[in-house]
Amino acid sequence: MSPKALEEAFEKYPEVKAVVVVHLYGLSADMDKIMEICKKHNVAVIEDAAESLGTYYKGKHTGTFGDYGIFSFNGNKIITTSGGGMLVSNNEERIAKARFWATQSRDQARHYQHSELGFNYRMSNVVAGIGRGQLKVLDQRVAKKNYILEFYKRELGGLEGVEFMPSNEWDEPNYWLSSITLTGKVRPIDVFNALETENIESRPVWKPMHLQPFFDKYDFVGEGISEKLFENGGVCLPSDTKMTDEDLERVVETIKGGLWFK
Ligand SMILES: Cc1ncc(COP(=O)(O)O)c(C=O)c1O
Repeated sequence: MSPKALEEAFEKYPEVKAVVVVHLYGLSADMDKIMEICKKHNVAVIEDAAESLGTYYKGKHTGTFGDYGIFSFNGNKIITTSGGGMLVSNNEERIAKARFWATQSRDQARHYQHSELGFNYRMSNVVAGIGRGQLKVLDQRVAKKNYILEFYKRELGGLEGVEFMPSNEWDEPNYWLSSITLTGKVRPIDVFNALETENIESRPVWKPMHLQPFFDKYDFVGEGISEKLFENGGVCLPSDTKMTDEDLERVVETIKGGLWFK
């Protein structure tokens, strides 16, 4: 989230009640600036740290700056419980309320009674047990993700038109997804096709939310950067922590050998 665009959005929509900040690809948003703006406007801040468990902003975990933080334990995340996630907050009263809603809004009564709409969002004890086990390997996973990024940088970094996602001076990333942009003759579609031929999955960088058809009818405030990255060249490379050196070499060889040095 661009702090500058956020300021502009508040000028346009001063009635806004909450801001959702997303930490993308294992990097963190500029939380000092964003929190300062949000405090000035007295709004709740929800951090979407689904992709950034293990990432620090100026030495503090992402997801712990705002009023609430959310994490994902979906199968593609740095640790997983197979599915589900976690809501964190320092506000015990609000967490208790969230837990109440998440467990079907059951009133304090011997019989089943509901005075409010509820949801069945609870995490089972089995899944929670898997999550506690996974948390123990988080540091190892971050180290492996970093290894994968360094491998790609070493092998692909010197190629014409290839640039790796930069990180900011405040970041201590979890390196969740190794991403590049392509500005030379080789286009993202060439990379997707070459990898697909070898049965290797890769993807474009995320389509910006305001370009999603569902959000067509809503306004957007921004600087055009996410559009540019999406339209001109963002590629997410395979980054799973189970990848072996042979797997990484196969990806690199398919890209480098197949497209640059054919
Ligand atoms: C930034 C971000 N927010 C939210 C989600 C959704 O998480 P989940 O799949 O656990 O609902 C994801 C990933 O899937 C994500 O990358």
